[in-house]
Amino acid sequence: MKTAASQARQNSTTDFLPLEGTDYVEFYVGNAKQAAHYYMSAFGFQALAYSGPQTGHKDRASYAIRQHKLTFVLTTPLRPGNEIAEHLNKHGDGVKALSLRVPDATSAWKETTSRGAKSYLEPVVLKDDDGELVMSGIHTYGDTVHLFIERKNYHGAFMPGYRAWSNPHFKPIDTGLQYVDHCVGNVGWNQMNPWVKFYEDVMGFKNILTFDDEDISTEYSALMSKVMSSGNGFVKFPINEPAEGKKKSQVEEYLEFYNGEGVQHVALATNDIVKTVRELMSRGVEFLQVPTSYYDDLLDRVGQIDEDLAPLRELGILVDRDNEGYLLQLFSKPVEDRPTLFFEIIQRKGAKSFGKGNFKALFEAIEREQEARGNL
Ligand code: FE2
Repeated sequence: MKTAASQARQNSTTDFLPLEGTDYVEFYVGNAKQAAHYYMSAFGFQALAYSGPQTGHKDRASYAIRQHKLTFVLTTPLRPGNEIAEHLNKHGDGVKALSLRVPDATSAWKETTSRGAKSYLEPVVLKDDDGELVMSGIHTYGDTVHLFIERKNYHGAFMPGYRAWSNPHFKPIDTGLQYVDHCVGNVGWNQMNPWVKFYEDVMGFKNILTFDDEDISTEYSALMSKVMSSGNGFVKFPINEPAEGKKKSQVEEYLEFYNGEGVQHVALATNDIVKTVRELMSRGVEFLQVPTSYYDDLLDRVGQIDEDLAPLRELGILVDRDNEGYLLQLFSKPVEDRPTLFFEIIQRKGAKSFGKGNFKALFEAIEREQEARGNL
């Protein structure tokens, strides 16, 4: 009998790590109960599953929430002295795990660790009445990890160790967020290329786009970035490092406040960015604002678009075009008091790029925020 791994190897001689997409994003936070409520009320997620002392985990509580194909897990420590508490103490709230769906989590762990990845979790089979799920994990930049999730034989709400969770009195209307488009990491000075090589060598990713400091610099806030993509394009990880500018790079500010390397932003896809952003704003999510002059010559820069200009201008939504189409995007302010993790809302209309044409206007907006924080 063929295993999924040998079948996958047969299907593709080069893809030793077939990925089916992002399974979930796990955040370590100071208060998971309240964080889950924030993402439900403000971002439109629904309750999915809960794990904690009542399900046998004495040292933590986790809330899994879902909207379409997007699953977040909010985890908090219940006592000091464990890995979660130490992560929280060092970094504040942030992303711990970018979890990837795989056909074979044992093979994923073997293939990556044999290519030099540092193991975080050896393959483990988790079982309950709803089946079994195999999970493994490797370290990436900073204290961030990739978990490999094999759930083809699991039919429960989320995973063993969790119980289904819902509140019939609180079902926030969804905001149209669909799936993770990409997740960006901030790494230290001269660390971008070593991490590019890690994703090439260990995970078989390709470098599909590069932005140097000429592309991404305003008067102050320079950075360099390389976009890494899995072979099928389902998983994309841009990697940023700071570049020399007149004053402090936005990546340096992140590294200082996160106390190391970590996830800078998670981009969430929508099919209707005007509707999504209007919902998010009305529920209190704050976004970076570009000057209204951005819209004066927008259509000259990007050509004809399907959307009316008025709501884009009203909500501050940005537009950029590449050879294959265009995209609409908008960036939230950091969702913690520390200037660390934020979200991007993105709607792609053919474009596969990342909004290079918006970098200048965007980074000037970021610099105004850095200046207000006294960190420029
Ligand atoms: Fe992005």
